[in-house]
Amino acid sequence: MNAEELKQLKEQALEETAEAGSNEALEAVRIRYLGRKGVLQEVMKGLKDQPPQDRPLIGQLANELKQELQAALTDKTAALEGATEGPETLFDYTLPGDWHSMGTRHPLSKITERAVAIFRSLGFTVAEGPDVETVYNNFDALNTPPAHPSRDMQDTFYLDNGDLLRCHTSPVQVRYMQKHRPPVRIIAPGRCYRRDTPDATHSANFHQIEGLYVDEQVSMADLKGTLSYFAGEMMGPGVKIRFRPHFFPFTEPSVECDFSCHVCGGAGCRVCKQSGWIEILGAGMVDPNVFRAVGYDPERITGYAFGMGIERIAMILYGIHDIRMLYENDVRFLKQF
Ligand code: DAH
Repeated sequence: MNAEELKQLKEQALEETAEAGSNEALEAVRIRYLGRKGVLQEVMKGLKDQPPQDRPLIGQLANELKQELQAALTDKTAALEGATEGPETLFDYTLPGDWHSMGTRHPLSKITERAVAIFRSLGFTVAEGPDVETVYNNFDALNTPPAHPSRDMQDTFYLDNGDLLRCHTSPVQVRYMQKHRPPVRIIAPGRCYRRDTPDATHSANFHQIEGLYVDEQVSMADLKGTLSYFAGEMMGPGVKIRFRPHFFPFTEPSVECDFSCHVCGGAGCRVCKQSGWIEILGAGMVDPNVFRAVGYDPERITGYAFGMGIERIAMILYGIHDIRMLYENDVRFLKQF
């Protein structure tokens, strides 16, 4: 085989490589040219029969053939692999589409976000505290007497180390005031725990939003103004509030706050049990003992606080009749919001 023939042989080998449509065809090309009994071996064997002056050139050309062919085979193998995985071969354009339905915000998240936005617009900032609390923050600093029933093992989850799962978001008040000087204007949404047997209106795990406003000369009128505004924004225009006297250890005086029924406008309907009013939250003026516990001067400082159940508001606004639906993660229920 002379030099010219060898050059042609290379062209042919490269062409066959380019045309090979499968791994098997490629392997056949490799064996034919580079195999132990392949064409190249024949050329090398025939080298000794060539005129001595031609041998270096033929040797060089044979080497070139070997190297270029090997490179071409590697490239082509990779190309074939890519092609079988490529979208053109895998993607069947005639198949019906794969529908991914959009998720929705959980109703409790929606209510929380709305409430937070309303209070933010009034200058409140969001504060947080841990679910696992000390007895001190959850009860003592909040002026809760040692024999108060809410401290009972039957009502509160205690941990082995003496801490507890907070039964309300009020301890966030304590934590925040310990770290900040007045004025304080915070809301604290969060999870709470009580040893309640689950039924349509009770859950051992629920959510509250706590509010706290502390400064000089904060009054009950400020509390009423803030909650009035909140009621209208949250439940709808025209919703009014009323205070009824109540008792909480951490506020004095304390009130329960009702919102006028957003469904009937106060005339009486099923939602408000014909009363025209719906009980929404607890509130009051921060008890001086709470201020003392956090090192504030109760002679100089006053404040109001309130706490409301997020589940309760969600149930009232969305017409949910069983609190447990909020935790069951039934998509048929959740996607309605
Ligand atoms: N912590 C009370 C509860 O869990 C709610 C509450 C009432 C919070 C009055 C307050 C408040 O901050 O002033 O029922």
